[in-house]
Amino acid sequence: MQTALTRDPETAAAYLKQGGIVAFPTETVYGLGANVFNAVAVAKVFEAKRRPADNPLIAHVADFDQINLLASEINETAQKLIEAFFPGPLTLVLAKGDSVPLIATAGLDTIGVRMPQQSVAQLFLKACGFPVVAPSANLSGRPSPTTWQAVLEDLDGRIDCILQGDPTEIGLESTVVDCTGDVPVLLRLGSVPLSELRNIIPQTIEYKPVTEEAPMSPGLKHKHYAPRARVFLAESTMTDIPRNDTAYIGMVEPSDAPQFSRVLVCSTVEEYAHWVFEFFRECDRLGIRTIYCEAVPETGIGAALMDRLRRAAEG
Ligand code: TXA
Ligand code: MG
Repeated sequence: MQTALTRDPETAAAYLKQGGIVAFPTETVYGLGANVFNAVAVAKVFEAKRRPADNPLIAHVADFDQINLLASEINETAQKLIEAFFPGPLTLVLAKGDSVPLIATAGLDTIGVRMPQQSVAQLFLKACGFPVVAPSANLSGRPSPTTWQAVLEDLDGRIDCILQGDPTEIGLESTVVDCTGDVPVLLRLGSVPLSELRNIIPQTIEYKPVTEEAPMSPGLKHKHYAPRARVFLAESTMTDIPRNDTAYIGMVEPSDAPQFSRVLVCSTVEEYAHWVFEFFRECDRLGIRTIYCEAVPETGIGAALMDRLRRAAEG
């Protein structure tokens, strides 16, 4: 398969209307989209990414009306969170409507719904005219792509088209919140922090896995966000670490910076979050074997960043 490149949302949408799969930018990371109602196209997304079939997809909507095509019920808490955060980097898990094929939700009776804010994403979704399921547009287990070039690196020849846009602004995936129960449950940290969710619904709780086998958000059990290099969480004061083929990303410049193969010093936590996945990919391109990532305070997007760094360090 030849992967077409375009900057035109209408051209990209035409591939989806024909049952194809297309990568597109959002404010978080690039997604790999298919028509949610076309089970054959949705299957192609799993195939192209080599995604485990038990990991459900998020459906992206252009407007509020499309939410009703996906969800059988929007309860009061969901309604409040939608009003507060849509469009934006928040995914709500809702009771699934009957017309959504089970392959999209990995057999679950719930569906993740998100309305992106980024302008190219909005034009693309409007041009499609139907909700679009889209996981991050990386090969399963790799860092999420924040540039169209990173999508090409993983999926060239495996997908129909890439809608080329700017590097994604936020750089980490959306916050995922389950709204099907009595109180909202935060399933995945993202750029909407728990404190902001609690400003709207004070009862919001953070999900704590009971067993490894049955996570509430199936994606959390899979290997994630990992470069080929080994990742270590580091304190800014670290000393005596090996420097050969070694890189560093953080907010405080290490005193022996010239000894690293690659160093990226970020001036804010937002900047760190924006760059981290691309830095991982860059290190892989350079053949770097070890990456030290400075730990940050777990407030605001710092909590999501630390979550991704820990997962990469486990990987
Ligand atoms: O920012 C984002 O969310 C990006 C952009 C493209 O929108 N998408 C993304 O998708 O990160 P993905 O598939 O890489 O991650 C989706 C996460 C997974 O952890 C998945 O298990 C969880 O959301 N999820 C999706 N549907 C769910 C559901 N019905 N119930 C529980 N968790 C769900
Ligand atoms: Mg992903």
